[in-house]
Amino acid sequence: MARKIIIDTDPGQDDAVAILLALASPELEVLGLTAVAGNVPLALTHVNARKICELAGRPQVPVFAGCDAPLKRTLVTAEHVHGRTGLDGPDLPAPKMPLAEGHAVDFLIETLRQEPANSVTLCALGPLTNIATALQRAPDVAPRIQEIVLMGGAYFEVGNITPTAEFNIYVDPEAAEIVLKSGAPIVMMPLDVTHQALTTRARIEAFRALGTPVGRAVADLTDFFERFDMEKYGSDGAPLHDPCVIAYLLQPQLFSGRTINVEIETSSPLTLGMTVADWWRVTDRAANATFIGKIDADGFYRLLTARLATL
Ligand code: BDR
Ligand code: CA
Repeated sequence: MARKIIIDTDPGQDDAVAILLALASPELEVLGLTAVAGNVPLALTHVNARKICELAGRPQVPVFAGCDAPLKRTLVTAEHVHGRTGLDGPDLPAPKMPLAEGHAVDFLIETLRQEPANSVTLCALGPLTNIATALQRAPDVAPRIQEIVLMGGAYFEVGNITPTAEFNIYVDPEAAEIVLKSGAPIVMMPLDVTHQALTTRARIEAFRALGTPVGRAVADLTDFFERFDMEKYGSDGAPLHDPCVIAYLLQPQLFSGRTINVEIETSSPLTLGMTVADWWRVTDRAANATFIGKIDADGFYRLLTARLATL
């Protein structure tokens, strides 16, 4: 039986590739997409999410709009990384599929209550505002979550939006704290691992060589994304952060990490949004997350390219 997932997302080129990977994978049943403000404002992220469903030929997947601002802070966006639309690169048509009726947070709560306990996994690809709001409003859903697999945080790589914070956690640190304290099983994909999943020229050309609309769009998305990271880090290519979350569900053997305590800095102006990960287990704080540290990048790109070829 396919594993049921909800993808909470702020597309974003790398979110888009993650959504495509999920929709291409028969092992996963995508119950819905919940859009959140992050890389760009909510008014764009829910449109982008629907563009990607249509690109995948799956306009029946419901896309809900969620929170338009972090719990307690002003929204910080990342147009400098993702472009003005959040999906700069390919020229994707405006979506025809409508936005699903209702709020994303209600969809999360209702789905977790209706589906059998521990049968729904949340894949979090953006700031954790929607998920934290659901947990605050309906604490009864926390023990019903099978797993939360999230892209966020960093330990050895420290930060990307500030010297000490990764973007998704930094945008809504209070939400991240609620999620990490929820008691739900959590797997974190920090920058430590996503910075190993780089798009090289050969990997991008392998997407283009699929010769399909999806292959070309993914090559254009990753081409755009790459520009920023090559300028910033001088690395081989761009890190495909969010697809690591979906790949973990499909082939967990590509990843390794440690089950440790992770706390979120929510007050220091200097280190706001830092994920204080007890990687070396030097405290007696209880473990609350599996913090991934390594990925088989070749295996990851093989999986991604093979699955995209099916769309
Ligand atoms: C995360 O921030 C966003 O810019 C990406 O989509 C990813 O989810 C990386 O820090
Ligand atoms: Ca994202």
